[in-house]
Amino acid sequence: MKLLVKNIRTLAGIEHAPKLRLQGKEMGIVNTIDDAWLLVEDGRFAAFGAVADGMPALDDTVEVVDAEGGMVLPSWCDSHTHIVFAGSREREFVDKINGLSYEEIARRGGGILNSADLLHNTSEDELFRQAMQRLDEVIRKGTGCIEIKSGYGLSLEDELKMLRVIKRMKEASPAKIMSTFLGAHAVARGMPQEQYVQLIIDEMIPEVGRQRLADFVDVFCDRGFFTPEETGRILEAAAAWGMRPKIHADELASSGGVVVGVKHGALSVDHLESMTEETIETLRGSETMPTALPGTSFFLNMPNAKARQIIDAGLGVAVASDYNPGSTPSGDMKFVMSLACIKLRLLPNEAFNAATINGAYAMGQSKDYGSIAKGKVANFYITKPIPSLAFIPYAYTTPIVNKVVLGGKLQSM
Ligand code: NIG
Ligand code: FE
Repeated sequence: MKLLVKNIRTLAGIEHAPKLRLQGKEMGIVNTIDDAWLLVEDGRFAAFGAVADGMPALDDTVEVVDAEGGMVLPSWCDSHTHIVFAGSREREFVDKINGLSYEEIARRGGGILNSADLLHNTSEDELFRQAMQRLDEVIRKGTGCIEIKSGYGLSLEDELKMLRVIKRMKEASPAKIMSTFLGAHAVARGMPQEQYVQLIIDEMIPEVGRQRLADFVDVFCDRGFFTPEETGRILEAAAAWGMRPKIHADELASSGGVVVGVKHGALSVDHLESMTEETIETLRGSETMPTALPGTSFFLNMPNAKARQIIDAGLGVAVASDYNPGSTPSGDMKFVMSLACIKLRLLPNEAFNAATINGAYAMGQSKDYGSIAKGKVANFYITKPIPSLAFIPYAYTTPIVNKVVLGGKLQSM
């Protein structure tokens, strides 16, 4: 199966010598070819080049897709979402406008516990239906590789239910999906904290491990949720089952999440709204990708992660949506790119790399996703005619996606 994309005004995000992640000044570079073509074979990128240098010969085996003068870009890689949830929480949205903070809502038994109650009373099929609808929406917006967490179950049965839904989504969707066990998202209603931590370690992790339902493990390591000490114990238990950490760290307070994450070889530490500048040094020399979620800062009116300083210190940054019902009810990665530029002060090229190749790295998938390189999985989208890459974050509410190709197959929109 071959697919040739012609009439590409600019092919961007290409790599001749692919890197697993980009750091520091490298993040400012996006390689492009103008007036380009792109060839896909058996679901993977096979070749690309400038029309002026000659195009591949066409025969009946080649399906031709007309880019109609649009740009071609690698799909967004959204490395942090919670899109399996039941219903919505706009009542809390109003509470927040009326002055309650995210933490106050959580302390009153709202927030995550609210979603856990709703999820408990929702069937697995209905959860799957709702989550697939959200996934389809973000695919149409250009996302092609996405991580999805559990964490609204908070009991063995309901956490397994969520993870089974994610497994079904992996099988049903053309997007690449990675799954994360986030039993330690909040303490289950009415249970002492230590008893719940022990339940995660003794029962949930072994069962999730036995059933191979999660690629990664996550903990909401923050003030009012789980301590670094509890986080360390949970990460150790999960390591025995091969689940690498990707953790919620330093969102509400500089609470030691980044330090414990790096210590346990986390693939990423995410949020970082309250991370101090001194903590940046903890990340140096590690394999951990600091991941900013600027949609959360926007929606909760919180400080922004110090992504600019992290890049200026020579390190890499990823950005992700955090799509969830409480703190970020949106998975729009184009808007995340805008926020990365406007609020985190990333240049458009840096924001683009943060939302593609570095996002793929934060899911352990940058060997196969995150850029247009020979041999990588052909997940990309074609834009409407737009003047430049910087136009994407600049025109922050203008839809740009025209066609989506996942695994080398043109998707119906
Ligand atoms: O990443 N911070 C913790 N968890 C989610 C929010 C979950 C919720 O409020 O439902 C987040 O922002
Ligand atoms: Fe989150």
